[in-house]
Amino acid sequence: MAEEWNTNLLALVYGIGRGDLEFLGINDAGQLTIQFESAEIPIVRVIEKAGLSGSFNLRIPYLVAARARHVEEAFRAAVGKVGLAATVLLAYPVKVSAHRLLLRTFLHARSNYGFQVGSSNELKFVLSLDGLDNRLIVCDGVKTRSYLHLAERAVRKRYRVVITIGSVADLTAIVDYPWTTRPEIALRLKAYSTVPGHWSHATGRHSKFGLAADEVKQVAQTLTDGSLTDTATTVMMHPGSQVQETSALAQFGEQIARVYLELREQGLDSLQVIDIGGGIPVDYTGTGATTTPEAYAENLMRGVTEGLREASTEELPRGFIVESGRYIMAPSSMVVVKIIDVRSVYPSTPPTTPNAKRTVESLVARLRSANSVKEIEGILSSVEGEDHGRTLESMVQREAMLGMLVVAARQRLAELGIDPPPSNTEFLKPRYLVTGEFSVFNSIIDHLIVDQYFPVIPVTRLRGRPRSTVRLVDMTCDSDGEISKFCLKKLDRVLLTEDFIPLTTRAPCIGEGIPIPEIKSLQNSHVVIALTGAYQDTVISGQGMFARLPSVVLDVTDDGSWSVDVERSS
Ligand SMILES: Cc1ncc(COP(=O)(O)O)c(C=O)c1O
Repeated sequence: MAEEWNTNLLALVYGIGRGDLEFLGINDAGQLTIQFESAEIPIVRVIEKAGLSGSFNLRIPYLVAARARHVEEAFRAAVGKVGLAATVLLAYPVKVSAHRLLLRTFLHARSNYGFQVGSSNELKFVLSLDGLDNRLIVCDGVKTRSYLHLAERAVRKRYRVVITIGSVADLTAIVDYPWTTRPEIALRLKAYSTVPGHWSHATGRHSKFGLAADEVKQVAQTLTDGSLTDTATTVMMHPGSQVQETSALAQFGEQIARVYLELREQGLDSLQVIDIGGGIPVDYTGTGATTTPEAYAENLMRGVTEGLREASTEELPRGFIVESGRYIMAPSSMVVVKIIDVRSVYPSTPPTTPNAKRTVESLVARLRSANSVKEIEGILSSVEGEDHGRTLESMVQREAMLGMLVVAARQRLAELGIDPPPSNTEFLKPRYLVTGEFSVFNSIIDHLIVDQYFPVIPVTRLRGRPRSTVRLVDMTCDSDGEISKFCLKKLDRVLLTEDFIPLTTRAPCIGEGIPIPEIKSLQNSHVVIALTGAYQDTVISGQGMFARLPSVVLDVTDDGSWSVDVERSS
């Protein structure tokens, strides 16, 4: 029986309204909306109001404040739960996104939110923000003279500056610097306990970050021997990004707490703060498989209390610094891509020669009784033979035949109930190539450099069964400039497009092809590439020399009124 299509099924297929796309919805008109406490705003109305003819980055400051508070509250609750009387301070890492307006929103979300910077230029940028008052600034990265000079100026301006020592060279630079006003010091330790995740290479023995065990001892000795002991307030360790495994987090927490305690016992008795870095994951695939901030904080704190089991009351940490970046920033930006062309891989008309018609008829009959993917593929490959590709006309007939046969092949796959669908199979490849006015290199570079998945969702006509799937190609002359991966969500039955492409599976997996409601109306419509707020603005490449997209800032007030503001250069 044909599946009844409704909004809930479409939301499930795209991951809308769940996990980290919980701020998105679909309204009765089939439009993708952004849901705020006070309003539900169709993205298509934002596009109209912005009045831009092409693609743009949509910025949603409201989400930055909401997510920052969420992280802070999760850690506060976890700290309370394990019975520690310690403060929780957020230090947002500027490398994740330095969009001025988004950072101002972060600053205004709470009077004690601070920043983490990794270079003198990032520090300069932070110091140029209004309303910074006496905020915390954690200065990480390689300590050049000019960086330390700027850090000292920040101390003099009464910011709470914590400089990390992540190498012996950092130690030498900091000891040799002629401080007139001294910052606090954090010992950044190498995270020996590798936490599995996308960036697990950033941790472990071979990580480029942090002091190795012997170096920690050397640094601690130098600090206690010199005049900087009382400035060493903090130990810091970063578990990597997109951290998924909660048991590894407990180990991480235990390790940093043990080292904290040991260093105190060895004479660094001004230590009172543990900086646990960033790492809270974003559920890019919408499968609900990632750790929530609450679970993340609870597991980490469970480990911390284990590591502090032997500590006396005076030795217990008075504060925790949390450097979460990705989780706070990812939903705050999305690329709104205008579709400027739609092409079909196969001809839109069936084969016309009697020979081709006969071939299709007999192959469709064979496909109907095929019993495996291998058999289906074998039948399709018989069309690729030389006779069908000698002349232009024979190529047209071959392509028209294949256009029909791939649909029959998919239909057979569905009848056979093969799930999850086979990967890298020609007959499941999207039929349509949709050109978007954007560059993958400028807008979602992590798609290429770390194989990061980003959800792509149409903005309108989200009603009924999706017609088919597409590849979203960009405007660069680079074959890597496309995004076509799509995460098939878990469901106890396989939903299909009108042309029999699987949209769900019993075992979530990444397939190829973005579901699209209609093909006819696609040109000049828009899709969004969501969750692009973290790292994509800061790590870009100039492939094709395309200009960066303009930004449109969407602001909402408590009474539900909203406005858009176009920033031409972001
Ligand atoms: C030292 C440090 N702190 C914080 C972060 C932010 O991590 P995330 O964005 O995964 O929260 C990073 C990024 O890898 C980092 O290197």
